[in-house]
Amino acid sequence: MMGRGRLTLRRSLPARPGALVVMEGSDLPDPIAREARRQFERSSVAVIPSLGLHPANLLVVLKPPAGDAPEALTRAWGAAGRKLVAEGVTRATAVVPENAAPDNARPLVLGLGRALYRFERYQENPSPLPKVGLVSPSPAWSRQARAAFAVLEGVLLTRDLVNTPAEDMGPAELEAAARDVARSTGMKIRVLSAARCRKMGMGALTAVGRASTREPRMIVLEHRGRPRERGFFAFAGKGIVFDTGGLDLKPPAGMLLMKKDMGGAATVLGAALALGGLKVRHNLRFYLAVAENAVAGNAIRPGDVITALDGTTIEIANTDAEGRLVLADAIALAVREGAHHVLDAATLTGAAMIALGRIRVPMMANRDDFAARLEAAADRAGERVWRLPMDPEYRDQVRSKIAVLKNVGKGREAGTIAAGVFLEHFAAGRPWAHLDISPASWSDSAGDLGPEGATGTMVPTLTSLIEAL
Ligand code: BES
Ligand code: MN
Ligand code: ZN
Repeated sequence: MMGRGRLTLRRSLPARPGALVVMEGSDLPDPIAREARRQFERSSVAVIPSLGLHPANLLVVLKPPAGDAPEALTRAWGAAGRKLVAEGVTRATAVVPENAAPDNARPLVLGLGRALYRFERYQENPSPLPKVGLVSPSPAWSRQARAAFAVLEGVLLTRDLVNTPAEDMGPAELEAAARDVARSTGMKIRVLSAARCRKMGMGALTAVGRASTREPRMIVLEHRGRPRERGFFAFAGKGIVFDTGGLDLKPPAGMLLMKKDMGGAATVLGAALALGGLKVRHNLRFYLAVAENAVAGNAIRPGDVITALDGTTIEIANTDAEGRLVLADAIALAVREGAHHVLDAATLTGAAMIALGRIRVPMMANRDDFAARLEAAADRAGERVWRLPMDPEYRDQVRSKIAVLKNVGKGREAGTIAAGVFLEHFAAGRPWAHLDISPASWSDSAGDLGPEGATGTMVPTLTSLIEAL
């Protein structure tokens, strides 16, 4: 789709580099170095016309970030990419510092690559975006850069899927995207139709999706990186292609952006593309629980009781708490098939925005070591999570009088945690973790790492997590 292939690797500086992106400290003509220092007083990126002092026609000079935390480096290169777009540059060369550690390839590629992304499927005149050649200092650096391209592909796929309006990104289109990922990575794919899901007993997924003319389905991708082992690490993603709220209808302002409610599934699919591209040596499965939460005469009603795949009965206290229902079946299926870990990603609660805003992604886990590994993976990936508690009292919130569970907690109390402990039930004691990406998966304004819209958050973190297993 859009935005790919803007970055390539080069071994040397071309005679005509177009715009040149460099870190301060590389040898630059004196007047340019002086001008860069002057601009650094108000910005971390200096933009300087070369005026014949250099073969490049424009110089973009980066102030080296304090420390070498992946996140700071990512942002620095993102800011550079943003300047290139703002200046209307179409061809640029970025010189990677001679002494750059191979570890820096990922922040550089993910910073620059995300900044250069635009979603222009419906635009008449696509913007003239830059193509950037990266001058690599070493074969080891190039190797890491190629790995970073795989992660970038995953992030950009997630962005494209989430940015696409629900009209053009229904269950069938999401399935087509999953088939593309399976084809390009060599993974196996199974698509369980609505009829099949019903027969198997996935009463939660099929109940949520039944009021839509676009049928729900469960999509499963399999990566066999250790063919001789049977267990696997499972990802589960909430794939609500549009969330009207159901009979508990959302007000207009709350419904407007609900095309993004398949963000969890898109994140899991982006991670599949990245991990498949990296050919990681682990067994992985990716479960996408796909449905449209629509309104019709056959819609589920508040007060109904449904039965999930594992036999758990669920009282539907609110039809707008549908994400945890479809994920219940996805997590239960992963457990039934033999997952040794389950990690789900979902645009699950509005309360996540109240708790942490868009800065940190709320994370929950039923094991301390799993949570710690996820935190470390986020650090390496330049992303941020924050663990929420799971005291037993929170679990009482989702107990029902008529069924085993109910799908909402206690009014406005700890809404993100209530949703999390609901999901935990279906992991049946297996190591489980959950990311509520509802705020961070969408940016409400342009920034250094891309335009307003889908962010692809957590694709790098999920990838780093598996790479470090
Ligand atoms: N998809 C929404 C959560 C959401 C809200 C994501 C805003 C992104 C932005 C989810 O299905 C939902 O509606 N949750 C309800 C749960 C409530 C009824 C317990 C919510 O958060 O209001
Ligand atoms: Mn909802
Ligand atoms: Zn939803």
